[in-house]
Amino acid sequence: MQDAFGRSFAYLRLSITDVCNFSCTYCLPDGYKKTIGPGFLKLDEIRRLATVFARLGLWKIRITGGEPTVRRDFTQIVQTLRAVPGIRTLATTTNGYRLREHADAWRAAGLDAINVSIDSLDAKIFHQVTGHDRMHEVQQGIEACLTAGYDSVKLNAVLLKGINDHALGSFLSYIKDRPLSIRFIELMQTGDNAQYFEKYHVPATVIIDQLKQQGWVQKTRELGAGPAVEYLHGDYAGRIGIIAPYSKDFCSTCNRLRVSARGDLHLCLFSETGIGLRHLLQSDDDMDALQAFVEHSLTRKTATHFLHEGLTGGTQKLADIGG
Ligand code: 5AD
Ligand code: SF4
Repeated sequence: MQDAFGRSFAYLRLSITDVCNFSCTYCLPDGYKKTIGPGFLKLDEIRRLATVFARLGLWKIRITGGEPTVRRDFTQIVQTLRAVPGIRTLATTTNGYRLREHADAWRAAGLDAINVSIDSLDAKIFHQVTGHDRMHEVQQGIEACLTAGYDSVKLNAVLLKGINDHALGSFLSYIKDRPLSIRFIELMQTGDNAQYFEKYHVPATVIIDQLKQQGWVQKTRELGAGPAVEYLHGDYAGRIGIIAPYSKDFCSTCNRLRVSARGDLHLCLFSETGIGLRHLLQSDDDMDALQAFVEHSLTRKTATHFLHEGLTGGTQKLADIGG
């Protein structure tokens, strides 16, 4: 499946809920507020959606939120997606709050890869950023993932000026002997966080410069890989990834589509609106129609986002659409 710019799509980010129990300062500073509207995608809808996207050639699904693991049927969702023909890699991004107890069960249910958000390895700062004093618990969850035998365990840290932009050292010691990839994500401006963005955005070059000075070497990009540029160092078991959405050419390697927890297709994280798919998710008989509709919709994907011009599209906060 290709768009008008020759980009093909390997990867679906599927949100299963907007709800999150954390209140990260850049995303949900006042916590999750219940919204009215239809409920989140049900198991059958998720199965149909994934089946059609797999038929279109997508082979990787990342389950996102909000916080995906707040759903009581999370394990069943993993099992359902695992059973969809053509899905080779099943991943999720989580804040880690249920990881310590469930890492093994989710692995057994068929989850291959896990990304854990951890913006600081300092318990106090972690508390400040997320609103929860749970850094140790999340770290234990990360350890549980490492012993559960996931194919890939990655940590996400949103780069924040004055909060974690001087903390590279602590992250580097953490990955000296742990086979983890830590990805530093440049803070993105969304509809809700303009002032916050002004105050805390720091370009990823501050980290890249330090890495290069310390002998880290950039790795070539793998097929189906996300937008991270990865760095390696012989003395470290772990890796560093940099996600810099404001960098030149960030969009040219875009290989992903997004579907929101209420079944809207988003061609870009920063699209003005989503394209409703839910009416075509109600019966197995509609799956051909859904396939044709998604194929047609893709012709509308634009070459790039317009973040540089401060246009954040319809995305108020990443919890709405899963980052
Ligand atoms: N900019 C960058 N990353 C963000 N995330 C949430 N909001 C933003 C933002 N405005 C990250 C979370 C998590 C991932 C799902 O998205 O920290 O790691
Ligand atoms: Fe929740 Fe993730 Fe948003 Fe933090 S960034 S509030 S963990 S959805």
